[in-house]
Amino acid sequence: MAKSFTVIGNWKMYKTARQATDYIEALLPLIDGTKVNVYLAVPYTSIHPAVQYAKETPVIIGAQNMNDSREGAFTGEIAGLMLKEAGAAFVLLGHSERRNVFKEDDAFIHKKLIRAFQDDIQPVLCIGETADHHGKGKTQEVLQDQLEGALKGVPKEEASKLIVAYEPVWAIGSGKTPTAAQIQEAHGFIRDLLCELFGKKIGEGIPILYGGSVKPENVFEIGDEKDVDGVLVGGASLDPKTFASIIQNISGGAPKKRAPRTKKEKKE
Ligand code: PGA
Repeated sequence: MAKSFTVIGNWKMYKTARQATDYIEALLPLIDGTKVNVYLAVPYTSIHPAVQYAKETPVIIGAQNMNDSREGAFTGEIAGLMLKEAGAAFVLLGHSERRNVFKEDDAFIHKKLIRAFQDDIQPVLCIGETADHHGKGKTQEVLQDQLEGALKGVPKEEASKLIVAYEPVWAIGSGKTPTAAQIQEAHGFIRDLLCELFGKKIGEGIPILYGGSVKPENVFEIGDEKDVDGVLVGGASLDPKTFASIIQNISGGAPKKRAPRTKKEKKE
């Protein structure tokens, strides 16, 4: 059976609401008929207008973060129910910028995850090792800590709605990526852990996306790996043409780089 791919654009703190709707207008004709699940994680103020614009299209709109409480005196925070009412279908949790810049830990991310399930928002759990951990050969140790820290205690029936994104911190925004084989090794490790936590059937069904310097040129190779079910794209998702190329390329929609056709092939 052909793989079903998910491609998520993470806009981070870019684009006003007006720019968001212009972007969606430009993107839609470029991805017409796609079979890829296309998600956009947009800034809070763009959620509602983007949802209106993307109605009855393949584009699914979500948020980049949320608080773990239902409501409360938490100045500057946003609750899952607020996102849900604005139309967000999913939320990124544990992105490395949240972990590193805003000091979010696994226990907090776990609580947010539980809240997201309660509020019926699909969580996209982001995990990944720093350059230091990578250099010291501690990638698997870090992935295990982050996965177990966030997921232990999550009921099986909820886990089937989860998406996991493997994003090595050193690959984010750096132009560097692990080799396809290294990505597969990490994804295989994550797959095994998910199967241990939730059983084989659910573990095998959870999409595992790769993120970190994904571009139209490298997504062919990355998407070919067995346990890669899609990609999470930061910088390259900001331009609708580049993002559309990634969506096309991962699903084999555009021709792969190949040798020029011979005269005989051309005649056929
Ligand atoms: P990048 O970011 O594609 O710009 O490396 C990925 C991310 O932060 O999710």
